[in-house]
Amino acid sequence: PRRIAIAIDGPAGAGKSTVARLVAGRFGYVYIDTGAMYRAVALAALRAGVEPGMTGELEKLVSELDIRLEPGDVVQRVRLNGEDVTDEIRSRAVTSVVPAYAAVPAVRARLVELQRAMAREGGVVMDGRDIGTHVLPDAELKVFLTASVQERARRRYEESGRAQGMTLEMLEEEIAERDRQDASREISPLVKAEDAIVLDTTTLTAEEAAERIAALAGRSI
Ligand code: C5P
Repeated sequence: PRRIAIAIDGPAGAGKSTVARLVAGRFGYVYIDTGAMYRAVALAALRAGVEPGMTGELEKLVSELDIRLEPGDVVQRVRLNGEDVTDEIRSRAVTSVVPAYAAVPAVRARLVELQRAMAREGGVVMDGRDIGTHVLPDAELKVFLTASVQERARRRYEESGRAQGMTLEMLEEEIAERDRQDASREISPLVKAEDAIVLDTTTLTAEEAAERIAALAGRSI
């Protein structure tokens, strides 16, 4: 069968990565977590003391980074210049500053170039904010995954928030703030692509959501 590209976009905590991984597994496709790439850039910049406004330094930093996504047991492992930073890129310190770095044109240009190269052969499930609108506008299937902010906060709480000592209220606020920043930025903001299919996962399990996407994809293959 034809190996297509599946784009999954949506706000923070909608379940994109879990669902995308399940769909990729079902079809034997490669899963690409673009959020992890923006997180890796933010981590590298934090470590180097390069702030989002330091455009020249940031452009140089991002052009020299070696970011690799590798299949892992449960999550995709992320390597930054060879170092496994999978856990560190999910820390609160990194999470809260990613949108500021992701709003910088030079950062996006470089990561989008890498993402398109990874998708060139098809057979990919890519998740993020601008995949259907900008990275892969010709993807055969585009899904916009959403869920209520309360439900998204609850999921984050179970996943990592509780362990990080956060309350549900803190997570709701943090998620809403990140959505606001991602949706209001000038370059490639979080918006639904015109031809994307909306899937609200508030009352769905990840398996159910993946099943629906697999059914939609089956028709596009
Ligand atoms: O998907 P995740 O929550 O890990 O993404 C972290 C951040 O990376 C988002 O809040 C957003 O600022 C940025 N991002 C982006 N474009 C993408 C994927 C993520 O701007 N395609």
